[in-house]
Amino acid sequence: MKNEKNEINIGLLGYGVVGSGVATILHNHQDDLRHKLGVPVSIKKVLVKNLDKKRNGVIPKEMFTTSLDEVLNDPEIDLIIEVTGGSSEAIRRSLEAGKGVVTANKDVMAESGPELLKLADENKCDLLYEASVGGGIPLIRTLEDGLASDRITALTGIVNGTTNFILTKMKDENKTYEDALAEATELGFAEADPSADVDGIDAARKMVILASLSFSTEVHLDDVFVRGMKEIADGDLQLAEQFGYTIKMTGSAKKDEEGIEVAVEPVFVHNSHPLATVNNEFNAVYVYSDSVGETMFYGPGAGSLPTATSVTGDVVAACRNILLGVNGKRMHAPQFERKVKTDDQKYARYFHRITVRDEVGVLTELTSIYSHHKASLATVVQDSDLHNEGADLIFITHKISRQQHLDILADLKDTPAVIDISSHYRVEGE
Ligand code: HSE
Repeated sequence: MKNEKNEINIGLLGYGVVGSGVATILHNHQDDLRHKLGVPVSIKKVLVKNLDKKRNGVIPKEMFTTSLDEVLNDPEIDLIIEVTGGSSEAIRRSLEAGKGVVTANKDVMAESGPELLKLADENKCDLLYEASVGGGIPLIRTLEDGLASDRITALTGIVNGTTNFILTKMKDENKTYEDALAEATELGFAEADPSADVDGIDAARKMVILASLSFSTEVHLDDVFVRGMKEIADGDLQLAEQFGYTIKMTGSAKKDEEGIEVAVEPVFVHNSHPLATVNNEFNAVYVYSDSVGETMFYGPGAGSLPTATSVTGDVVAACRNILLGVNGKRMHAPQFERKVKTDDQKYARYFHRITVRDEVGVLTELTSIYSHHKASLATVVQDSDLHNEGADLIFITHKISRQQHLDILADLKDTPAVIDISSHYRVEGE
């Protein structure tokens, strides 16, 4: 049933990097939004923690409040934008109050998405979360609508802007990890606690959201194999270059008849793959699907206005539904049961950098470990320049299971000639 509203009012929860960007866009683009929707869309109240904090921007002082109740009990507020990065409580209470929600909260959507989407349906509200993954890239809508008729089999992406920014600065500008992280924080890319970025948790949450949408199945955070960027050893960025690869923190998800596999880890991406050229805070997701084949979605993955653009895109969608009176009518129930692959069902190529005593027979001893585990090798190289003592042996395998990879590493570790397993990576993109 069409709604006779002649304006839409918004309650904005949070006025940090994203919230202030949302206010700027709604203010600067108000004529365009009014034209697209036929009615004006304005922010009516803004929830903040501290009223005394000095704030620049387009919101008059009297609109700020510290009371969530004041926002939720205002009958003129039709829609809530939640960009606090906090717990699920505000989203839950907004939906229970019958107000639709647009959120950028990946933590909450990864951990409680199915439950909150159900709550939204029960309350005939929309719960939209485009900004939770990929900053300004319209990814969620693409997976839900654009590729709705296709069957997605895999996706690989760079879904954390901070780690991509750090890796780019370390590789291209020789910056230290610490300096690059400080710069990412200064630019507003990093999480309040940047360990969520560098340890891979932020990307893992985003992969939960992407994988569950792509494969129409529940995916839990525990299903994601996660290795952070601290696993990258000194010299690895240069070593990768030497072999024709770039190290990227990627998220990957695959589905076949045996189940799904989802991982976030630093990987060797072959330089011929488009993901190798995605730099700084930019994100990209490469999707493999049955009918269209391969598609890639690219754009700024973090930052105020890019992320706010995704939020305000959702605002337009939710407002349209409010005006048409069709909120909360999307199909969210997963089609398939959750089935997660075990390590012997996950296949990939691996790069191993092993520091060994530089002695006769060591290479043969090590290659026999690979043969014993039925792992075929694509590349074997010795590099003596990296160490004063010992040498580095580089092995790149053909496709083996993750279980074989782990078994080989365990045997290498027990070999007296091996000084250290300096690093190991999955290889992508050939
Ligand atoms: N810290 C996140 C990132 C922000 O760097 O990608 C965007 O989700």
